[in-house]
Amino acid sequence: MTVATWPVAELHVHIEGTLETELLVTLARRNNVELPSYDPAALRDLYRFTDLQSFLDIYYENLAVLRTEADFYDLGMAYLTRASAAGVRRAEIFFDPQTHLANGIPLDVVFGGLTRALGDARATLGISADLILCFLRHLGGRAAMETLEAALPYLDQFIGVGLDSAEVGFPPSLFTEVFAKATALGLHRVAHAGEEGGPDYVREALDLLGVERIDHGIRAIEDHDLVEILRKRQIPLTVCPLSNVCLRAIPMLGLHPLPAMLAVGLLVTVNSDDPAYFGGYVDDNLAALQREFSLDHHQMATLARNSFVASFLPEDEKRRHI
Ligand code: ADE
Ligand code: ZN
Repeated sequence: MTVATWPVAELHVHIEGTLETELLVTLARRNNVELPSYDPAALRDLYRFTDLQSFLDIYYENLAVLRTEADFYDLGMAYLTRASAAGVRRAEIFFDPQTHLANGIPLDVVFGGLTRALGDARATLGISADLILCFLRHLGGRAAMETLEAALPYLDQFIGVGLDSAEVGFPPSLFTEVFAKATALGLHRVAHAGEEGGPDYVREALDLLGVERIDHGIRAIEDHDLVEILRKRQIPLTVCPLSNVCLRAIPMLGLHPLPAMLAVGLLVTVNSDDPAYFGGYVDDNLAALQREFSLDHHQMATLARNSFVASFLPEDEKRRHI
């Protein structure tokens, strides 16, 4: 059995985190943006992270190369092509408009390029994909609300909102208003929680933001009562094992809680997060887990099935995959 052939949905991937160093160099040259090196391997060598913030610093800096509609199209197409080869049949893709707005890039350019890539990928690769607009938690609740209001003309181009960037010190409670507005607009809601932050961040995301999925959620395992809530309500957790090891949320893959989370009946899915930075796409994450924990056919099939169950596909489309 080769894990690469498992058809899956990918529910936790930041399009900006799929910017491979080869494309980074191409875009830097195209747009006259200065980089510390123009050798993709040398740039990759700089990716030595000690925690989430040490990654975010480089990740945001690299995004200065994204300037035009064509850049966003190329980024989207590159991910969707690689994801299709990884077995991804459905992708629910995060993007960070506030980063691009701060770089002087209008929303029209961002949506234009990404939405065109999603349409072309559906036509040429048969992959179904939608966008989830993420708010940067370090910029606070008011900026998040301004971003949602600015995105209202593009409501037909994203299916939900999320919450990402630095977690500790920026709890979900700062974002209740903007998530209430997203709910009123009929948007799906997800949030990163329990990646570096403790179980309380997961509780707040559920109770105050009404999220339908938790991104990461690995630290929920520290709170038995919370695990019971997540299990009973079958709240999906979009777990990213290689990311957790790279950012030292977990000391080594062999200590990852994913097998325990599966064993207690949590609705766990496997995802790549920022594959250009963390050493692998969703197939690589699945392969690493299978190798490390000798996961059997049933466990792998459960992970694949969970990914579609947890997706925001309409029920009839979900059933075609599970
Ligand atoms: N933005 C991109 N990747 C992220 C992660 N793993 N956690 C929080 N914000 C992010
Ligand atoms: Zn993430």
